[in-house]
Amino acid sequence: MIQRAILKNDLLLRTLKGEKTERTPVWMMRQAGRYLPDYLKLKEKYSFFERCQTPELAAEITIQPVEQVGVDAAIIFSDILVVPQAMGMEVQMVENKGPLLPDPIQNVADLDRLTVPDVQERLGYVFEALRLTKQTLDGRVPLIGFAGAPWTLLCYMVHGKGSKTFDEAKAFCYTQPKTAHRLLQLITDTTIAYLRGQAEAGADVVQIFDSWGGLLGPDDFGTLSMPYIRQIVEAVKDKALTIVFAKGAWHSLESMASTGAHGLGIDWCIRPQLARQLAGPRVALQGNFDPAKLLSPVPVIRKEVAAMLDAFGDGPHIANLGHGILPNVPVDHARAFVDTVKNYQHEGPLDRVHQ
Ligand code: CP3
Repeated sequence: MIQRAILKNDLLLRTLKGEKTERTPVWMMRQAGRYLPDYLKLKEKYSFFERCQTPELAAEITIQPVEQVGVDAAIIFSDILVVPQAMGMEVQMVENKGPLLPDPIQNVADLDRLTVPDVQERLGYVFEALRLTKQTLDGRVPLIGFAGAPWTLLCYMVHGKGSKTFDEAKAFCYTQPKTAHRLLQLITDTTIAYLRGQAEAGADVVQIFDSWGGLLGPDDFGTLSMPYIRQIVEAVKDKALTIVFAKGAWHSLESMASTGAHGLGIDWCIRPQLARQLAGPRVALQGNFDPAKLLSPVPVIRKEVAAMLDAFGDGPHIANLGHGILPNVPVDHARAFVDTVKNYQHEGPLDRVHQ
């Protein structure tokens, strides 16, 4: 077990526990990598999986947005696709194209190629990166670990690459439901061991990304995604605080809240007031700034962020984007987002910076 240093900034953790805080914590999904010039320099020198698998590089990339943008949490630099890789699939990251899994899962026989791996053996490099990051952060901010939700991982494992609709993954579920559920369970078992391992290695919080949850209607989400997310939250919540982000699946906020997750992510297509009604008063809501709005002029960003904070009102809230930060966002725009949250008070924005 890792020795937990006292955190100098634990706003995120207190908010997830439902405690009142002096101000709203703020971080940005996909904040590590993508847009920071120092990251882009490392990207020229090392391949994607080299960056993920070298703890010193992963730790350096993880800490960059803490030092350069001032966020209230670090999220470990890794990828959701390290899980299918550890289960036995080949995963390539093709420059400017995204992920490619050349031998996707197509039928029941293909499941024989997969294992529920020993996570220490296959994903130990992520745990090592978490330990090193935790040590280097030295209590400055909490550390977030993460994994993809089983449904989102199935999308890539079956379709073999990115897609806007993932219809092949859906066809697989609709034509071979038994095989689909077996696959979802294999991913779930791996993810539980993986996230528990992340907590043991120092992650204070773990987030489950169901990036493609919104492709499913409410009934399909209820059978293909929700039961597996529920199993994961139940198995992990004694080890770490948990956040579930199922993009576009606002219809299931009530059932996500009933998993006992400490936080629920929402995107910009739902009003915070309605999300609060659906999720109930207890759970922390995270979001929901449209990432494309960070391309607006800085004064507009400040105004819109204040409007977002007004809309979330008094309930437990973690300021974030409604999906990952875009690669073409200027760094000072990301800083404007963070600083506006830090300077805001519910009566209105302050003109004085208080940390
Ligand atoms: O804050 C962070 O960025 C931490 C690291 C992180 C990465 N991927 C690094 C990465 C996180 C949290 C992820 C999650 C992830 N990966 C998701 C869920 C979140 C989301 O955005 O919906 C998904 C769907 C993936 C799968 C994936 N990985 C795709 C579709 C791509 C290509 C397009 C893209 O997002 O850039 C990746 C590659 C990837 N993962 C990059 C990074 C920094 C870009 C490649 C590079 O920099 O070389």
